[in-house]
Amino acid sequence: MRTWHELIRSKSVPLMLVVAALLAGCGGGGSGSGTSPVTPQAATPAFSVSTGAYTTLQSVAITDSTAGATIYFTTDGTTPTIAASAYSAPIPVAANTTIETITVASGYTNSSVASATYTINFPAAPAIVPITDIHQGFIYQIVTDRFFDGDTTNNNPAESPGLYDANGLSSPANADWNLYWGGDLAGIQQKLSYLQLMGVAGIWISPPMNNIRVNAGASNGETGYHGYWTRDWMQIDEHFGDDTNSWTAFDNLVTAAHADGIRVYVDFPANDSNPIGAGEDGSLYNNGTLVTTYSTDTGTTPYYHHNPNISNYEDRYQVQYYTLESLADLDQTNPWVDSYLKAAVTNFLAHGVDGFRFDATQEVNWGWEYSLENTIANWSGASSPARMPGQPFIFGEWDEGSEDALYPDSVKFSNNSGVNLLDYTLYWQLADVFGASGSFYDIDNELTLEDAGSSTIPAQAFTQPNDLVTFFDNHDNPRILSQGADRMAVKQAISFLLTCRGVPVLYYGDEQYLYNDTNNGVVPYNRNGMTSFTSNDATLLIQYLAALRAANPGMAYGTMTPRWINNDVYIYERQLGTNVVLVAINKNPSTDQAISGLLSYLPPGSYTDYLAQTMGGLGIAVTGIAGSYNPVTNFTLPHNSVSIWVSAGSVPPSIGSVTPRVANPGAAVTISGAGFGATAGTVNFIAGSTTLPATVTNWSNGQITAVVPTLAAGAATVTVTQGTATSNAAPFTVNTATLIPVNFSVSGTPALFGTDVIMLTGNVAELGNGATTWNDAIGPVTIPAAGSALQTVSVPAGATVQFQFFVLHSNESITSEGVQHRYTIPSTGAGTAAVTW
Ligand code: NOJ
Repeated sequence: MRTWHELIRSKSVPLMLVVAALLAGCGGGGSGSGTSPVTPQAATPAFSVSTGAYTTLQSVAITDSTAGATIYFTTDGTTPTIAASAYSAPIPVAANTTIETITVASGYTNSSVASATYTINFPAAPAIVPITDIHQGFIYQIVTDRFFDGDTTNNNPAESPGLYDANGLSSPANADWNLYWGGDLAGIQQKLSYLQLMGVAGIWISPPMNNIRVNAGASNGETGYHGYWTRDWMQIDEHFGDDTNSWTAFDNLVTAAHADGIRVYVDFPANDSNPIGAGEDGSLYNNGTLVTTYSTDTGTTPYYHHNPNISNYEDRYQVQYYTLESLADLDQTNPWVDSYLKAAVTNFLAHGVDGFRFDATQEVNWGWEYSLENTIANWSGASSPARMPGQPFIFGEWDEGSEDALYPDSVKFSNNSGVNLLDYTLYWQLADVFGASGSFYDIDNELTLEDAGSSTIPAQAFTQPNDLVTFFDNHDNPRILSQGADRMAVKQAISFLLTCRGVPVLYYGDEQYLYNDTNNGVVPYNRNGMTSFTSNDATLLIQYLAALRAANPGMAYGTMTPRWINNDVYIYERQLGTNVVLVAINKNPSTDQAISGLLSYLPPGSYTDYLAQTMGGLGIAVTGIAGSYNPVTNFTLPHNSVSIWVSAGSVPPSIGSVTPRVANPGAAVTISGAGFGATAGTVNFIAGSTTLPATVTNWSNGQITAVVPTLAAGAATVTVTQGTATSNAAPFTVNTATLIPVNFSVSGTPALFGTDVIMLTGNVAELGNGATTWNDAIGPVTIPAAGSALQTVSVPAGATVQFQFFVLHSNESITSEGVQHRYTIPSTGAGTAAVTW
């Protein structure tokens, strides 16, 4: 499928031929006497597209009538020679470009240079209406070091000299990809208008915290340019900010981003600090003061776990308590570490961030993360710079596919903790479908499993699939352009991503078709330097899709229903009330697809293609009656196309998301959706037979801020009533009080057989309210060693609880301890409740 990049790299002209051609071109008849034959000149190459101005992407073929000719071309203004790119396939022209070309052929002098100049004036994209909630937009993921150098004074800072390669952003082919390249927070700030034009609603930036200051050695990946080798959570790294590790550059970025309507999400590592036994040996600092290193962490309450690398990702204990890739593994239930990480997270909130991407959520102590979410959900401090409206949105990395053993644990974790997950399950299918030859059935099956669940394994459905954070490329996996995608496939992937349910994340540079195939594009070759910030066909497409997401609530909050599918064609519909968006993708590069039997909720009428200016252009007709599933008149979907048909309409009060989904009474929550009405109605929180109205502090048609009433802890729902109409009931979980992480452990557990697991239950909502099922009790808990069990649970501060462990057998029967233990939870810090079975 590859076109553009292959031809750039292919210089496969046999040397002898080139030498002969050059000699011929020099009039190479030698110096002998007599008449020399006149060497003919190769024909001048011809362009398939004439010089001129165009409003769409052009594909320019170059031909030459000279037998056996090789065509060389440039697009950078230099005169082509045999050192230029050899032509092999039509050249996509997505921006103002001059192509210059010559022909070289054996027995001929070189042709004259031919040149064609193209001006691309893409049509103005639709205006993007202001949005109030991230679901209405998309997030743009940035590896700060690789984006833009806005401040050259921090490139080779005195605190950490020698970690910078000046070739990085300008000449990556000559750079060390594991060194710093100069990108910084000021650079992101300087490129905000580029992001704003595309419709970026939020940026997720790589960890900006202070990283180790030395080279950890080639075998350890050398430097912390990626941000994941944190040593001090309280300071900004000198490469990204300034040499006093101040927050100035960070605050400036947040202020400027917010002024442009762009939210800032910070990547927050809580699992680990930095490499063990190399670099700074897991050094951990608190605002400049050394707290420990890994090898000096020998106290009675260690800051770190001292276990081997994780080798079995199906073992809940290893995953949470072992070491991830030789990175010093923090014990989040060490009271100092607990309060340090929570202070760090609230410090970022106080610096105005709009949410977090939790790094390595799967490897952090799951039970502790409930209390991290609780800290953020209940935070109500002042911030400077000011935050954007809306409560913080958090999403975590749980790198698993649905076939993996701990997938059900991930669903349960997200549903119950309120930590939204990056949709890795869907990612694997997107990479296969758009990066290779995967089938759309695989995407459809994954969506069905995640959204609706399956009857065979517990807890497989996410209660709020629209809160999952979707992506097709990221900094940990090869870009799809390195997996086999061509530019059309990237645009199809972008189209899918920005019309799919969930909150989309676009990885920086995909819109500029960045890739590097060294080592098949794995880390670090997927962390390319941004080389261009110009508008092109992909940025235009993104603008269109961002405008549609912002305007049509069906895109942000609606259902997603498959309507027609085969391996290469996927037609699906997003719908909220009478807001309907029908999307059709045919990824087959050569075969058009006859579509018959297609039903849609679109009202009867004729529809032009919303993407007519960028991708498709196909009109459809719908017959039938409004408000029902209507037949779409048969049509043919062209190969390599994306078409979108839109109907905008009204909607009764509809809740699309509640942020946070888990919080204490008294916490503010943002209820986003549509049709709430311009004047305040009522928000109710409902648990069982109790309905309590919430105090509303802000109300608009698409967003409400309400305060969680004092409702019994546990599962609840939220509704919005306007006049006589009441919305859907959105799931919500009420906590009892501030949550404290407690390590519940038991020794002397019975032998486990087959698929037996150990669970924990207790007499408060946070301990499962006495439930003994897989879905509702706590667990499966970790097994540090045969005969013992350990589970951190975040439980209400100061409460006295009763709890007991039990074995859950595969037939759902249980063997319980038979006694209730009592434990009083500390009012601050972390706790330990150790019992014997
Ligand atoms: C997951 C991140 O995405 C990855 O890039 C990083 O190396 C590891 N966590 C360790 O922090």
